[in-house]
Amino acid sequence: MILDAFRLDGRTALVTGAARGLGRALAVGLAEAGADVAVLDVLSAEETLALVRERGRRGHALARDLATLDPDGADGLVAEVAAALGEPAILINNAGIIRRAAAVDHGRDEWEATLAIDLSAAFYLSQAVARRLLAAGRPGKIVNVASMLSFQGGVKVPAYAAAKSGLAGLTRALANEWAGRGINVNAVAPGYMATELTAALRADPDRAGAMLGRIPAGRWGEPEDLQGAVVFLCSDAAAYVHGAILPVDGGWLAW
Ligand SMILES: NC(=O)c1ccc[n+]([C@@H]2O[C@H](COP(=O)([O-])OP(=O)(O)OC[C@H]3O[C@@H](n4cnc5c(N)ncnc54)[C@H](OP(=O)(O)O)[C@@H]3O)[C@@H](O)[C@H]2O)c1
Repeated sequence: MILDAFRLDGRTALVTGAARGLGRALAVGLAEAGADVAVLDVLSAEETLALVRERGRRGHALARDLATLDPDGADGLVAEVAAALGEPAILINNAGIIRRAAAVDHGRDEWEATLAIDLSAAFYLSQAVARRLLAAGRPGKIVNVASMLSFQGGVKVPAYAAAKSGLAGLTRALANEWAGRGINVNAVAPGYMATELTAALRADPDRAGAMLGRIPAGRWGEPEDLQGAVVFLCSDAAAYVHGAILPVDGGWLAW
């Protein structure tokens, strides 16, 4: 039955940046589809953990700062998830920050922190999960949370645009290496969603009004709008989908 192919029962997922916003909704969506979920954040992800458990799934919370993650740290982190919940078969690289400043004023700290969290951490965690899957000959799914700025340049967010464009490239590069070895690597590209990340944008009436007028769906996205696409990409229903960057954007890119 085709709907059975969307279920994730018995799989362990790791979601980064899961304390709030899109990551929290994705952790809940994966749990509702049947997965046990490890939730990682620099903030406490205990509230998200409770939501996972309310859905009858096992969960595990990791308090980590991905800004300083290195490859050894990623290996250790994935080993901790495996010990707590079983081998992770699903990785959602969702954690991300955005720093707004004109290119000429963009400091080294802003540049390096954004690249570290939005791009490097995703690479190290993907390596760590894939090494274990490939060694065991087990299938897996990696979904990166990209952005409209994986396709466009944005305004006064050069580090973010570089990181998210890099994440799209990384998605394709990893898909090319691992598609034939049982690992699907894909990305979702959210449009403009109502979370903390876009609070400053939404608080500026001129920018907010202009953006809303350009979204064909006529509204900002909600975190729950991303759940279906991510559950699909994590499921057997997406077995032949590799290296895709799936926009979930209310039609923004179609405009
Ligand atoms: N909202 C949108 O419109 C939109 C659109 C396209 C793409 N995205 C992407 O979607 C992802 C989630 O965004 P969101 O809107 O849900 O943002 P959010 O509400 O700010 O949530 C991001 C989460 O990631 C965590 N995080 C940040 N830095 C971290 C670090 N160093 N180590 C571990 N966790 C860290 C945040 O914790 P702190 O609060 O402590 O930083 C926060 O809990 C990001 O990759 C973002 O770029 C969002």
